[in-house]
Amino acid sequence: MAAINGGFKVAMVVVIIFVGGTANAQLSSNFYSSSCPNLFTIIKTAVDSAVASDPRMGASLLRLHFHDCFVGGCDGSVLLDDTANFTGEKTARPNANSLRGFDVIDTIKASVERSCPGVVSCADILAVAGRDGVVALRGPSWRVTLGRRDSTTASLSAANSQIPAPTLNLSALITSFSNKGFNTRELVALSGSHSIGQARCTTFRTRIYTETNINAAFATAARGQCPQSGGDNNLSPLDNLSPNVFNNDYFTNLVGLRGLLHSDQQLFNNVSTDAQVRAYAANSASFFNDFASAMVKMSNLAPLTGTSGQIRTNCRRVN
Ligand code: HEM
Ligand SMILES: *[C@@H]1O[C@H](CO)[C@@H](O)[C@H](O)[C@H]1NC(C)=O
Ligand SMILES: *[C@@H]1O[C@H](CO)[C@@H](O)[C@H](O)[C@H]1NC(C)=O
Ligand SMILES: *[C@@H]1O[C@H](CO)[C@@H](O)[C@H](O)[C@H]1NC(C)=O
Repeated sequence: MAAINGGFKVAMVVVIIFVGGTANAQLSSNFYSSSCPNLFTIIKTAVDSAVASDPRMGASLLRLHFHDCFVGGCDGSVLLDDTANFTGEKTARPNANSLRGFDVIDTIKASVERSCPGVVSCADILAVAGRDGVVALRGPSWRVTLGRRDSTTASLSAANSQIPAPTLNLSALITSFSNKGFNTRELVALSGSHSIGQARCTTFRTRIYTETNINAAFATAARGQCPQSGGDNNLSPLDNLSPNVFNNDYFTNLVGLRGLLHSDQQLFNNVSTDAQVRAYAANSASFFNDFASAMVKMSNLAPLTGTSGQIRTNCRRVN
């Protein structure tokens, strides 16, 4: 009887979390306005300083937030180190030897804890830092709502299965984003994140050596940085026109068959999304608008709120 009752409670919690994932009535812009009035300033100052010494960090923080939100919602799970009880997301295929910015989040968290101990979640810090990373690289801004709480666990297998791989074709990308509630238009807008940051040779080698929907001069130049064997960790910019400026050059590249990842070029490959790619390449304001709206939506994926989860003291560990 107790077991049946317990099972019922678990089912109820799952339903509530699922509904919360789309409603998010609990998140608000002024969540910490009395408990941590300087939060936005603390985060922005730290992000600006990190980006000033390493421009790529703006991209890395944005990607950390994306990988947090796509795996169990925006709950800071990506920040947890492995423990005896669980293997977390850091060593998952898309993340290992790839995600960066954990130290910047630690620095921000330490300074937030000094100002307002025990009240601000790591998940909220990540959502704001991702936004500020884009702004620091001259991209659009958006209003980040707050009140997320932090997970007490993380899942390697969920990270492996829920983060889209660069080998995916368009229909698989559409499915991956649709599983998180995004339509095809939002997939294209969010992919514009690849206007900034770098990718490792291992993620695009097959494309530059074997694919035909690629600009020849671009492929030759990319091969120079990414040999057929070895050099797996060599980096190339995802947008080589302006790697450290968040703008619509990513879409211009796609129209010119200069997408670096297979998944990037899938968005412009004589397919239904071509028109939207051309439109963003021609009109940066429409890209910025759609990107900002889609980021607000991504930041609201299945947050823990109320008394669920916790406010971690150290983003790498449960309390
Ligand atoms: C559409 C499906 C997507 C795929 C297949 C994908 C795949 C990748 C891959 C393979 C890399 C390079 C990783 C490495 O070399 O280790 C990368 C980098 C990056 N991705 Fe994505 N991504 C996708 C969508 C997104 C979204 C939605 C965002 C943000 C909202 C994003 C933000 C970034 C950023 C900023 C970088 C550069 C990070 C850095 O330089 O540290 N990506 N992505
Ligand atoms: C593992 O879980 C047990 C039971 O919940 C807990 O007491 C212990 O502190 C956890 N260990 C780690 C390393 O988190
Ligand atoms: C896309 O990839 C999926 C999974 O690998 C495959 O089943 C499907 O046939 C592919 N679709 C196209 C249009 O190539
Ligand atoms: C689209 O089709 C045209 C005509 O067949 C071809 O010349 C072009 O290379 C294709 N573009 C892409 C991106 O595949």
